Amino acid sequence: MSLFRTKDLDQMIRDSQHDSSGLKRSLGALDLTLLGIGAIVGTGIFVLTGTGALLAGPGLSLAFLLAAVACGFAALCYAELASSVPVSGSVYTYSYATMGEFIAWMIGWDLVLEYGLAASTVAVGWSGYFQSLLAGFSIHIPAVLSAAPGALPGLTTWFNLPAFIILLIITALLSIGIRESAKVNNILVFIKIGVVVLFIVVGANYVQPANWKPFLPFGYEGVFNAAAVVFFAFIGFDAVASAAEEVKRPARDLPIGIIASLGICSLLYVIVASIMTGIVPYEKFLGVDSPVSLALKYAGQNWVAGFVDMGAIIGMTTVILVMSYGQTRVLFAMSRDGLLPKKLSSVHPRFATPFFATWASGILFAFISALVPLSTLAELVNIGTLMAFCLISIAVLVMRKTRPDLHRPFRCPGVPYVPIAAICFCSFLMFHLQKTTWIAFGCWLLIGLVAYFAYARKRSLLHPK
Ligand code: ALA
Repeated sequence: MSLFRTKDLDQMIRDSQHDSSGLKRSLGALDLTLLGIGAIVGTGIFVLTGTGALLAGPGLSLAFLLAAVACGFAALCYAELASSVPVSGSVYTYSYATMGEFIAWMIGWDLVLEYGLAASTVAVGWSGYFQSLLAGFSIHIPAVLSAAPGALPGLTTWFNLPAFIILLIITALLSIGIRESAKVNNILVFIKIGVVVLFIVVGANYVQPANWKPFLPFGYEGVFNAAAVVFFAFIGFDAVASAAEEVKRPARDLPIGIIASLGICSLLYVIVASIMTGIVPYEKFLGVDSPVSLALKYAGQNWVAGFVDMGAIIGMTTVILVMSYGQTRVLFAMSRDGLLPKKLSSVHPRFATPFFATWASGILFAFISALVPLSTLAELVNIGTLMAFCLISIAVLVMRKTRPDLHRPFRCPGVPYVPIAAICFCSFLMFHLQKTTWIAFGCWLLIGLVAYFAYARKRSLLHPK
């Protein structure tokens, strides 16, 4: 039965109110919304839209809509738990209080994969855009230092140096304090949204409605497959929830942050997807890794395309920032519960950040981004996240039954239908991912299983001494 031992929810909430963790409470609703947008708009819209267009044709906008609906249902569930259990560690913490230690551990393990690999994946996308920007100024990084081994067929490559360096810079920023990092993030987010709006305003003049016909060249199946891939574009709003212990008024600000960031991004995505596929016939996106700027070049707007490239680089920088942030906070929470080594939850006396956890995971995922070709890993990030969304929705249902008395500043509407819809939509998207993704995900969970029984179970603070 020890597998299902749960943490005392009321104690957790009380502890978080007394700031016993040592983390600073400095974030407000606007900071959180920007933190969310910072995590959301990135590689998904700037790079994966090309892949999505090849799978769905002009129906790409429908694919974004489908993924947005799935995330919307999940976001409502997230918001309820984030506002009633405002403690660090997001979905991991909620499940520890509701579904027991073993499930919580597996979810935490799953989140480590999601955030860590998402940061690495986006760093690789960043590196590609950065190198193409440098190429515009005739500066070329030696091929061996430009990509991971085996990433570019026909070229000898050893190490993706730009991806490695950007991850270390972000790690340094995070390790000296969230307030500073949030300030940097806020400025970068405004620039990023600016270039997306610029694309919409300029691009709308070049739409040829003929490009939208046929609208669904690959039928609805194409739309579903594309939705499972572009789902990556929405990942990140959940990172807002993992900032719970650093928020000034979590009950009010967390739901606002989650729902506002997701809503704004969904709207922008659907518009961008429609305009992009309206300017360029979708087949032209084959082998293109900067589809948004391709659309502008196609329209003869090379200058604007240059700005969009810059915005993409900035956009991806903020995604790496928030993903790395989420990652360290999950490690922090798991370590504080005794499931991971204690050192990962030590807080720096001056910066009030989990300094060691930040650097340990930053260096690890910097190496992964430098050494592993990550083209297919976006799918792995997706499957991990979809799984987490299903579990959070289950947690809402379980907690409404087991803790009806709990103070819920934000209540998910339409329970049980909304959580059930979230579970259905997310599982549906999971089943549209490739078999290899399922196998790799299974292996990761298996390693987690072994780690739990070999280490975490006995070290848990809940383990009888
Ligand atoms: N949503 C994030 C991105 O698209 C992960 O880069």
